[in-house]
Amino acid sequence: MLLLCGAPAFADDVPRALTPDDFIAVDPAQAKLGQLLFYDRILSGNRNIACSTCHHPDLGTGDGLSLGIGEGGEGLGPDRTAGTGDDRIRKRIPRNAPGLWNLGAKDLHTIFHDGRLSIADTYENGFNSPAEEWLPEGLDNLLAAQAIFPLVAQFEMAGNPKENEVAGAIHQRMDYAWPILADRVRHIPAYADRFVAAYDHIDGAKDITIADVANALSAFMIWEWTSTDSPFDAYLQGDTNALNARQKQGLALFYGKAGCGTCHSGPLMTDQAFHALGLPPFGPGRTRRFDPMVRDVGRMGESDALEDAYAFKTPMLRNVALTAPYGHNGAYPTLEGIVRHHLTPLQSLDAWAPEKAALPEVPWLAAIDFMVWQDSREMARQRAAIQIASNPLSDTEIDQIIAFLHALSGETANVDKLGVPDTVPSGLPVDPRITP
Ligand code: HEC
Ligand code: HEC
Repeated sequence: MLLLCGAPAFADDVPRALTPDDFIAVDPAQAKLGQLLFYDRILSGNRNIACSTCHHPDLGTGDGLSLGIGEGGEGLGPDRTAGTGDDRIRKRIPRNAPGLWNLGAKDLHTIFHDGRLSIADTYENGFNSPAEEWLPEGLDNLLAAQAIFPLVAQFEMAGNPKENEVAGAIHQRMDYAWPILADRVRHIPAYADRFVAAYDHIDGAKDITIADVANALSAFMIWEWTSTDSPFDAYLQGDTNALNARQKQGLALFYGKAGCGTCHSGPLMTDQAFHALGLPPFGPGRTRRFDPMVRDVGRMGESDALEDAYAFKTPMLRNVALTAPYGHNGAYPTLEGIVRHHLTPLQSLDAWAPEKAALPEVPWLAAIDFMVWQDSREMARQRAAIQIASNPLSDTEIDQIIAFLHALSGETANVDKLGVPDTVPSGLPVDPRITP
């Protein structure tokens, strides 16, 4: 690459810049419709939570928590509580709600922390997903396929059996719930009109399916959270002044002796593969039926391959400075914490303390939150599975890497495109803006 001529050769390739051409093109009317759905609690079984509750623009498109509080909870972000009475939550969400930046990238083939949704021919419907052959037809892309899963997740949006018709249907079979939700949307005239206007194949309310709802949600997320104007991208396009000296030193470390670019590779800064970093475990885990204890085995839960034990997907890194806390369970509140963990994983694991986790108080679940730490054999297994070598760097070098990570934030990442709607067609309350 021209601009790096004369620069030292790095161990890992410095990628080309991301540009808007790397992303799926979106129709503005479809994005606008998706915006309303994203903020509308109508898509949750008990009409009490929206996508935005866990993916809020004022919290970097996450929820600012290590492990979030799903349906039944109250409030937003760090102020969210676990609810009261019969509605109170029965389980924490087992993993960190990731930011939704750049998920419309054409090269992205795998999402979720354990990669349980990917583009593949496994079921002849284009995707390998937890819905297997029951995935609805007509989904536009990977992100649209993703959008139908929170809707049928009991603790995220669907609610518990007997509480509502959606949860009741899921109890029978996951895909029975989707037509019920599509029906809710179809019966709100303001949605039906917008669907007819935005999609050629929809002539009336009766034509609206869950795939259309998912496609609109996907269009909105791509429209709103595609971010290609970071100083790093400007630098890669030839603006050598876009990075300051510290950030350039951080870049050299990232693609050089710190070895970050080995996994955070390519324009998206991910190999879309799975690695065990040994993050401090806590929370309910994604325990499989036969697991002897509360734990999260990561990719192995999907692949059943022993070499995937405790491995999680390498995340993309654009706007990472906006999306604390970090890791698949949000174990580290700062970039410094997660970077130091990569460099000295065992020491960081030993030095970690539960106070680092941003976990809203839930007295009736507290007993299981850190239970796994008492199981010395399980903790030994998790330590032994770590796949990243210790590579201690100086404090100055760590500062430089963090400075570089800040250069991955889009200049306009915090500027609203469509923003948060004042009201949504169902008339249900909209999650408010959060002012720092
Ligand atoms: C209760 C909180 C909660 C709600 C509500 C919620 N999500 Fe999420 N979301 C999460 C968590 C947690 C994950 C990570 C799950 C995993 O990987 O195992 C996630 C993952 C995702 C991802 C994948 C990101 C990636 O990089 O892999 C997308 C996209 C997404 N959510 C979009 C949505 C949409 C669209 C809605 C509404 C239909 C929604 N979410 C509702 C918590 C939530
Ligand atoms: C062996 C592959 C690998 C290497 C090398 C690597 N990472 Fe990671 N990185 C990952 C994986 C996998 C995760 C997610 C781990 C998890 O959630 O359990 C991650 C997570 C992160 C996160 C948290 C992102 C988020 O949204 O939560 C940051 C920041 C990060 N890495 C930066 C770095 C830096 C800086 C380096 C170099 C010092 C580096 N990584 C080296 C694989 C790697």
